[in-house]
Amino acid sequence: MPLRFLTAGESHGPALVGILEGLPAGLELSPADLQKELSRRKLGLGRSSRQGLETDRVEVLAGLRRGRTLGSPLAVRIPNRDHGDGREAPLTVPRPGHADLAGARKYGFTDLRDVMERASARETAARTALGAAAKRLLEECGVCVASRVVAIGLADDLTRLSCPVSRLNALADASPVRATDRAASLRMVRAVERAGRAGDTLGGIFEVWAEGLPAGLGSYAHWDRRLDGRLAGALMALNGIKGVDIGLGFAAAVPPGSKVLDAYTWKDGAPAYRSNRSGGIDGGMTTGEPLLLRAAMKPLPTLRKPLPSVDLKTGRAAPAPVLRSDVCAVPAAAVIAESLAALVLADALLEKTGGDSMREILPRLSALRK
Ligand SMILES: Cc1cc2nc3c(=O)[nH]c(=O)nc-3n(C[C@H](O)[C@H](O)[C@H](O)COP(=O)(O)O)c2cc1C
Repeated sequence: MPLRFLTAGESHGPALVGILEGLPAGLELSPADLQKELSRRKLGLGRSSRQGLETDRVEVLAGLRRGRTLGSPLAVRIPNRDHGDGREAPLTVPRPGHADLAGARKYGFTDLRDVMERASARETAARTALGAAAKRLLEECGVCVASRVVAIGLADDLTRLSCPVSRLNALADASPVRATDRAASLRMVRAVERAGRAGDTLGGIFEVWAEGLPAGLGSYAHWDRRLDGRLAGALMALNGIKGVDIGLGFAAAVPPGSKVLDAYTWKDGAPAYRSNRSGGIDGGMTTGEPLLLRAAMKPLPTLRKPLPSVDLKTGRAAPAPVLRSDVCAVPAAAVIAESLAALVLADALLEKTGGDSMREILPRLSALRK
């Protein structure tokens, strides 16, 4: 694994930090590249007032000099403006659907804030910033990663992607729910507004696309080198994600093989795929066709009309605490997932090319593409 990363930081601590190790030297990268993805992460109807409070100004502490990477670890810091002094009253009523109860049992905490501070999706700002550097590397290598939302609650968008992946984010980011179809976007907006008024929350489904990947990233040779497993693992590790599929995904289980498999043809002196139902991965390796990942996010667990819970101090029934919370974070999750997919894809690409600098990597990649 040439590319590794770690994040640290609590939701109301002084800052989030992240370290990305293994970026090659000589990649053009600026704090603005990271900033752009952090700003996109705050997009979307249904986010709470915290999104307005946190400006998410990223600072690059190491790994960059004169606008280029050094080959040394990239270190970033995102200060939390909304940070506490640690003297908040303890919370003893766990919120169903959150890490609160399982985390308190695991670590023996009596104040649930000790769990919530780290389990919160605020941490994903650090993953997004590091993933932005991976996206920049992929971009330099001719690979574009983008996403769109295809369902929020019952409001879904069944249209096929009708633009190149390189134009997808411009289209999706123009919608308040990051949907590319206007009518579907309106239905999703109404669904979020309705849920908000009812004191409820909504989940949904998003797609992540990557175009321009060379064939042969990942491997069938050992289970942990399979790219499908690595991508699914990265997306499943995003807070609130309950399912990930690739290409036809779950829909591949129903029709007969003739409707699911991608037949071959001969084109321009080489074998080619007649369709891309596999979503760009066969046998754990990229096929060179566009990659399609899909993820399902559950509704956010903090409800304005709280679910029944229990007070761990008294053992008595108590409603779950009502904290500041989003109504829907599917549009933001899609942006974060782009970063997570980019970290895996950049890792697989570096594995394939080897090399310490862009000057070494780029010619190897063009040889590979030939
Ligand atoms: C971008 C983003 C924002 C989120 N915002 C909230 C929120 O405001 N309120 C909430 O209850 N959950 C929110 N979540 C979801 C929780 O973090 C997540 O459901 C919880 O940690 C339980 O995770 P699990 O279902 O993966 O175990 C958010 C998730 C993401 C990805």
